Amino acid sequence: LSLCVLFGGCSSEYEVSLMSVTSILNNLDREKYDIYMVGITRDGRWLLYEGEISNIRPDRWNDRRYVTPAILSPDRADHGLLVLREGGVQRIRLDVIFPVLHGKNGEDGTVQGLFELCGVPYVGCGVLASAVCMDKDVAYSVLTQRGIPSARSICVREEELTHPEMVARKLREAALSYPVFVKPANAGSSVGISKVHGEGELLPALQLALREDGRGKAIVQEFLDGIEVECAVLGNGDPVASADVGEIEPLRELYDYEGKYCDDTTALHIPARLPPAKAQEVREIAVRAFRAMNCQGLARVDFFVLHKDGRVVLNELNTLPGFTDISMYPKLFCHGGMGYGELLDRLIELALG
Ligand code: DAL
Ligand code: MG
Repeated sequence: LSLCVLFGGCSSEYEVSLMSVTSILNNLDREKYDIYMVGITRDGRWLLYEGEISNIRPDRWNDRRYVTPAILSPDRADHGLLVLREGGVQRIRLDVIFPVLHGKNGEDGTVQGLFELCGVPYVGCGVLASAVCMDKDVAYSVLTQRGIPSARSICVREEELTHPEMVARKLREAALSYPVFVKPANAGSSVGISKVHGEGELLPALQLALREDGRGKAIVQEFLDGIEVECAVLGNGDPVASADVGEIEPLRELYDYEGKYCDDTTALHIPARLPPAKAQEVREIAVRAFRAMNCQGLARVDFFVLHKDGRVVLNELNTLPGFTDISMYPKLFCHGGMGYGELLDRLIELALG
């Protein structure tokens, strides 16, 4: 099969993507796939990368010696990858695309729209599910409407910052009391997130979140005091949850970007330290949420199990979850006995329908 693996991207999660793709490329079966690695630079250039996998990680991949401009053609009569070599255009027919892109422009339906136009099957969720899961404000509305317990939150638009009294009123009406979390409506890996302990910290936190969001929307969310757990879901029409649920134990106040990828301030536990019936409830809600959002292929569904009453509250769905060596999605399936390569094969099979 001719497989295009996309990585990088115009997103604050560019580096995370480089880590994810390195780990994916190291686990894909070379006998089964002709792999074309296409990197998207931070400023949005598409380049076919023909260097070593080990050079992707430190971000040396876009060295001119290893790359050639390449575009994905939306012209269905002439579809696939067009590599713009000095001697002329090389056409590469593609059977399937694996977008290893996180966050904006990768996980939010935009690039999925291009794949649809191209008529090439791709791994993961379609345009609508990607877009809805990416925007936390819209995601919470849909989840609530479909009876799935999710975090209570309000949306604050950029223009509302000039009317702080309106924002304060919205918080009161939603019965949100400090501490609260302020997040960009569209972003991942905890970039632009703050824990706000009182009114004085609210405005700078909103400004930070809005800057990161770039689309004029931030959310203020209740602080969920509980155990943070994650469940991996795999499938199309008949999705299954990973046999175990994983737990994130932040060894400091917030499971943030540094804790996720850079240091050892986070401990992962598989299985999560939950009573079996609670873990089962998490698995069931994860599958319900996956279906409610029309997800395809994969998603990692993140929750808090509240300390005070054991309630399971959905925090977010990640339609292109991290695939780094330390990421929960592959770990959960591998822990259940599936090999990493087997998981990738399965995702590609699901893309091909
Ligand atoms: N947004 C990152 C990649 C994750 O959720 O794993
Ligand atoms: Mg996320």
